[in-house]
Amino acid sequence: MTDPAPDIARLTATAAEASAGRTSGLRLLDDTGLLAVVLDVTGLATDERQPLEDRVRAALLNEAGVREVRVAMTAEKKTLTIIAVGSGKGGVGKSTLAANLAVALRRLGVRVGLVDADIHGPSLPRLMDSEDAKPASRGSKLVPVDNAYGVPMLSTGQIAAPGQAIAWRGPMAGRALEQLIDASWGAVDTLVVDLPPGTGDVQLTMIQKHKPAGAVIVSTPQDLALMDAARAVSLFEQVEVPIIGLVENMAGYVCPHCGGVSDPFGSGGAETAAKEMGLDFLGRVPLAMGIRLASDGGVPPAAGTDPQGEPFHAIAARVAAWLEARKGR
Ligand SMILES: Nc1ncnc2c1ncn2[C@@H]1O[C@H](COP(=O)(O)OP(=O)(O)O)[C@@H](O)[C@H]1O
Ligand SMILES: [Mg+2]
Repeated sequence: MTDPAPDIARLTATAAEASAGRTSGLRLLDDTGLLAVVLDVTGLATDERQPLEDRVRAALLNEAGVREVRVAMTAEKKTLTIIAVGSGKGGVGKSTLAANLAVALRRLGVRVGLVDADIHGPSLPRLMDSEDAKPASRGSKLVPVDNAYGVPMLSTGQIAAPGQAIAWRGPMAGRALEQLIDASWGAVDTLVVDLPPGTGDVQLTMIQKHKPAGAVIVSTPQDLALMDAARAVSLFEQVEVPIIGLVENMAGYVCPHCGGVSDPFGSGGAETAAKEMGLDFLGRVPLAMGIRLASDGGVPPAAGTDPQGEPFHAIAARVAAWLEARKGR
């Protein structure tokens, strides 16, 4: 007596259930009950794979007519879309923009993570209120730290002792960044990366190695800052990274007492410069006491409902539109 032929539909259902939907193929290899099953283990850590395989095999061996089960695993190599935030020099609000852009993109439904690659002055842990958090590791990979804003994050500041980061040099910085980007990002598919300010070798190496899909350049409105911004633009152009656009930060000071607007650094310079360089202008963020206070307090203005967050939401909407258009290409 031979067993009746196994019922493929039933086996498929059994495998799907035992693998929580990770079965991507199943077929009989011969008529003696030798079954091949393919599991999609994308995003699973190495130590989660064996238990999955065992569960699926056990469930299938339980079915009539199955003598042996061969399990193959496939994993999609996920490519992350990297948005680099750069500036020609420090202190222009690059980190503030990076943090708020990420928070605002998250609100728009983008599965976004945040990487603080500014080895000279990692400030995102403070901005995202996760200064004391240390990333765990899973296998050989770092696990990004969660925060209240739904934007998993990794920072050079979290993997180095305080004050030590400043001594990092080229190759070591490169390895550190590698770890931050090639981390266990889970559902995240887009990374906002806060680069070190300036246009030196460190920046160039980082950009070449982890090629961003596009770059956002932050500048203050005055001429000197804009000349630095132009250098940042040409750094990205050199390695054929598209510029998503320019952001003008600290434009127009809103007096907290009288509400009057003055222009300590001038205003509109970045928009004019963008036009001259043939680049998109993404928006203007005013110089406002509330932005600094909220940022220093670990609450990105884009996370709240204050008008303070609005410029960041407008900028994020343009970046999201850029990302969408890119998918269509
Ligand atoms: N639009 C703004 N209004 C007020 N303060 C700001 C604004 N943007 C940035 N800042 C403050 O300026 C300082 C430098 O900003 P930061 O984002 O750290 O610059 P960078 O990363 O370019 O060095 C921080 O104290 C920050 O809170
Ligand atoms: Mg910074």
